[in-house]
Amino acid sequence: MATVHSLAAVALLAILCSHGTLASDADLLQDFCVVDKTSQGRLHANGFPCKDAKDVIADDFFFSGLHMAGNTTNKQGSNVTNVNVAQVPGLNTMGISLARVDYASNGLNTPHTHPRATEILTVLEGSLYVGFVTSNPESKLFAKVLNKGDVFVFPQGLIHFQFNHGTSNAVALVALSSQNPGVITVGNAVFGSKPSILDGILAKAFQVDKNIIDRIQAQF
Ligand SMILES: *[C@@H]1O[C@H](CO)[C@@H](O)[C@H](O)[C@H]1NC(C)=O
Ligand SMILES: *[C@@H]1O[C@H](CO)[C@@H](O)[C@H](O)[C@H]1NC(C)=O
Repeated sequence: MATVHSLAAVALLAILCSHGTLASDADLLQDFCVVDKTSQGRLHANGFPCKDAKDVIADDFFFSGLHMAGNTTNKQGSNVTNVNVAQVPGLNTMGISLARVDYASNGLNTPHTHPRATEILTVLEGSLYVGFVTSNPESKLFAKVLNKGDVFVFPQGLIHFQFNHGTSNAVALVALSSQNPGVITVGNAVFGSKPSILDGILAKAFQVDKNIIDRIQAQF
């Protein structure tokens, strides 16, 4: 009897997995659902409403420019060039997207999370120190130095970062399991929200004086 039950459990799990229940975006019900930009604001959907298929063109599935480096002359020394549903309307409902990340020497893609996607990163140039932290109560850091050709995975929703510890520029190509992965940058969310979170609340959360919080908030 126990065997029958465990077989049934395995079969159920297989069905759930094959139907994408554990994936981040829903299964497709048609070949594609290219974003209809004209209906935005009038029609609300979980994702974007679709264009009439007869109006869809090849360029709806096209993007050009990932050969070009983003400008890394900024405080963090990094730049993300996104290729998601905002840039490629044909990605709507496809559950996948891309980004190019450029890093100056000492450049950092600051700790952030993608609420809707797992990320897989490939180093194209240079060397990166990367990592992610698991959820409570362990909060365990998994970190590694990556070189050209190396690949690393950042599981969905977990806070992660990439740092170019090398003396030359670094470039990575990342793929994400959502057409609209979203980004929550920890520093911006906690210290740069609009309006600000009360400094007394952050002082208690981080166990420091309010003036330290005020100084950090002033950076955002
Ligand atoms: C990233 O690079 C692009 C292209 O050079 C530039 O327009 C954009 O301002 C840069 N973003 C940041 C945050 O520096
Ligand atoms: C990169 O950004 C910096 C700061 O905004 C700007 O001064 C510089 O001209 C930009 N470089 C290029 C190549 O666009």
